[in-house]
Amino acid sequence: MKKILFIICLLLTIHVSYAQYNPLWIPDTLSGSTFNLTAQDTFRQMLTGNQTITAAYNGDWWGPTMIWYKGQTVHMNVTNKLQDTTTVHWHGMHLPAVMDGGPHQLIPPNTVWSPYWTIENNAATYWYHPHLHMEAEKQITEGLGGLIIVRDSIESALALPRTYGIDDIPLILTDRSFSANQMTVVPYGDSMVTNGVLHAQCTLPAQVVRFRMLDAAIERSYNIGLSDGSTFYVITSDGGLLNAPVPLTRFLISPGERVEILVDLTGKTGSLDLKAYNSTLSNFVGGGENFGGGPFANALGKKDFPILHINIGAQTALPITTIPSTLTTNTYLSASSASVTRDLTMSDSTGVSGILGPNAFIINHQIFQLNKIDYHVPVDSTEIWQITSSSVFSHPFHIHDVEFNVLSINGATPPAEQQGWKDVILVPNKPQGPTSSNQVVRFIARFSDFSDTIHPFMFHCHIALHEDEGMMGQFVVTGNSLPNGIAEPNTVKPDYTIYPNPSTNQLFISFANTSTSAYYVRIVDALGRTMYMLPRPQLENGIDINGLSAGIYDLQLTDDKTKITVSKKFVKE
Ligand code: C2O
Ligand code: CU
Ligand code: CU
Repeated sequence: MKKILFIICLLLTIHVSYAQYNPLWIPDTLSGSTFNLTAQDTFRQMLTGNQTITAAYNGDWWGPTMIWYKGQTVHMNVTNKLQDTTTVHWHGMHLPAVMDGGPHQLIPPNTVWSPYWTIENNAATYWYHPHLHMEAEKQITEGLGGLIIVRDSIESALALPRTYGIDDIPLILTDRSFSANQMTVVPYGDSMVTNGVLHAQCTLPAQVVRFRMLDAAIERSYNIGLSDGSTFYVITSDGGLLNAPVPLTRFLISPGERVEILVDLTGKTGSLDLKAYNSTLSNFVGGGENFGGGPFANALGKKDFPILHINIGAQTALPITTIPSTLTTNTYLSASSASVTRDLTMSDSTGVSGILGPNAFIINHQIFQLNKIDYHVPVDSTEIWQITSSSVFSHPFHIHDVEFNVLSINGATPPAEQQGWKDVILVPNKPQGPTSSNQVVRFIARFSDFSDTIHPFMFHCHIALHEDEGMMGQFVVTGNSLPNGIAEPNTVKPDYTIYPNPSTNQLFISFANTSTSAYYVRIVDALGRTMYMLPRPQLENGIDINGLSAGIYDLQLTDDKTKITVSKKFVKE
């Protein structure tokens, strides 16, 4: 009886103190060299009552965290089981453009896309997400996305928390609005959603813990802080470790950005909150506005609100209890090594024709055109990109292919936490008033390799709504011998045979001319549906066709040099 009473008391206590919270969900991890991701329409218990229709990679929300090592080659098999076409972009990765997953690498439903590349990025937190033009906001809202943790020898040698889910905690920050338990596609949600969970809490050991934070929101920035006012330590920027931890009490993270911080819970008891202190944000930063009504109105605007309720628990067996004083030695590019300064503008679209919404924002005075290449960047060159903004709003600028180093923000050296490798930088808004001046951000980057005249890399505002409305541009990296992306004047078609044909499980290609190689192979069924998309296939290993049902297919091979495509039929038995 005593025991039963005790249990009832315990249940009551749990009920009283924890009922308002839900356990933080930690995505599973995937590691190895082959990664299978299936994008699927699904549903999840997000609220009490009816389940919420979602989309996810493999599970019912978001996707697995992939763990990669610098220097390894990763092979991805992305299967699209959604109703819609999608793309998957590996945000922050330095990789061939044809593998990048931007708006040009469309994966139709029921198609497998198999990019692969060697990891050259530094240890840090990256992510993957859909990048379908004009559909990014919708597909990200549905739940599609995932984290990537890159490890390398420098980071591994440091005494940092590294036990995933225990003292190394992924935090995917976003917000959603619901109507009858279903998500609405809106720029700002009414509820904070941390790792797919509303009112998230977790128990963390009383030692140094690491948060890997990603702003995966459509539009909102989060002004991160701890409710007990304590200092935390920023150890990374988007693309790698900082030279040394930067102590802060607030960090503003914007859509697309990642930051890893250390929080020292040593000696603490009880609980505290990780919060967004957005009441202090300017009205011109996403989440800093307090709209009275209309499409941008939301319950979290210009408010402070919890991101994660942290209960402090027992230490682990080998706790990290100190903050390292140094992390790495980054060597940045010197401004004098740049061969060109590209001038970009960001502005409001007022008066520009062809704009979708009344409040759209644009880059270089034009809306994005899928078939217009804005820049030809010579391979093996270093460039300064100077972004001048006259926009009334702040925009997180993101570029594919490279990690950059911010040279200046309005002429001043960026704060220490922004001095590392980055791929997103918040370009401040032009202040109101007749005498205010445009805002200028300069960064430097090296476009070391991966020339490709066909597949461009993107640059854009990472507010998905703005990106969808056309606040985006694109560049190709051109080969040394091919200025301006003009292909060699070679019109010789690739001549090849497929063997064995018919085949049951593997296809091989033999080229009539040994200098031919494949840029792309697509396998299309008799109804014209793309089944496999194989960028730069490693043909010596054969093409695995076990996943195809018996029938006649077209193999469409694009030659690497001429980019001419020749189709041949084969029979799968
Ligand atoms: Cu995170 Cu162009 O994307
Ligand atoms: Cu990206
Ligand atoms: Cu924007």
